Amino acid sequence: MATAVRVHTTIDGFRRALAEHRSGGATIGFVPTMGYLHDGHASLMRAAASSDDVAVASIFVNPLQFAATEDLGTYPRDLERDLAIAEESGVREMLHPDVAEMYPTPVLTTVTVSGVTSRFEGAARPEHFAGVATVVTKLFSITGACRAYFGEKDYQQLAVVRRLAADLSMPVEVVGCPTVREHDGLAMSSRNVYLSDGQRQAAPVLYRAMVEAAGAARGGNRSVDDLRAVMHERITRTPGVDSVDYAEIVDADTLEDVTEVGGRQRILVAARFGSTRLLDNIALDTPPAG
Ligand code: PAF
Repeated sequence: MATAVRVHTTIDGFRRALAEHRSGGATIGFVPTMGYLHDGHASLMRAAASSDDVAVASIFVNPLQFAATEDLGTYPRDLERDLAIAEESGVREMLHPDVAEMYPTPVLTTVTVSGVTSRFEGAARPEHFAGVATVVTKLFSITGACRAYFGEKDYQQLAVVRRLAADLSMPVEVVGCPTVREHDGLAMSSRNVYLSDGQRQAAPVLYRAMVEAAGAARGGNRSVDDLRAVMHERITRTPGVDSVDYAEIVDADTLEDVTEVGGRQRILVAARFGSTRLLDNIALDTPPAG
């Protein structure tokens, strides 16, 4: 039977609980979340519980990473269900602070990561990554030395978090974990609940388009222009898709443009289904060009 998860609404209480575990020599595996947990989160929690002595997590819907026009007020929440999932997945300590506990008013100190944030989600949501970087820096500073588990689903976010942990010399090893998908390929996301039935049926096209492009690349088509066009065409002609924000192939580490397929690359896509924006990505690892 899973050990009951202890919920801490204060930073101090969470820190004290972690200090108790560390005093017995335990390593900490940390999973930051905004709640409304799904199997993707559960897989991160299970990874933390199996690789570290004590798995801990946070649930905090971070206002700093939402623009005024976004869904902060309606972001789905279900604490009771979240705690049951966390407990079942092996989490022992849960930080669940309110906004006043996390942020002073006004917030004067923020963290920005440049370069890797300039395109894709950073271009579509200009304040988003400063909000993510600020809260993750705070959460890492609260949690202290740990391994921190993030989904590859938000691939650009993972790159931002890796960069800030390295640049600020944080005692945190950032671990990227594979995206968990529904049976039809749709990447799990708390925002999938916003999709209408028709949009839900259309949404797996993101994954299918990337798989098709990866197949063409492996079959010998090395032109990024061609593959990008294949993905755009496949996604835009699907009823239920309103627009494609991007469908790109980039260097897997720097997220910079490439012109030819070859080496460790990543396919990134984002599209709008009504007012819901979905993103996805897969690895594209092929023999280096030349
Ligand atoms: O990926 C998320 O759920 C959030 O962006 C994170 C990392 C928990 C920061 O609020």
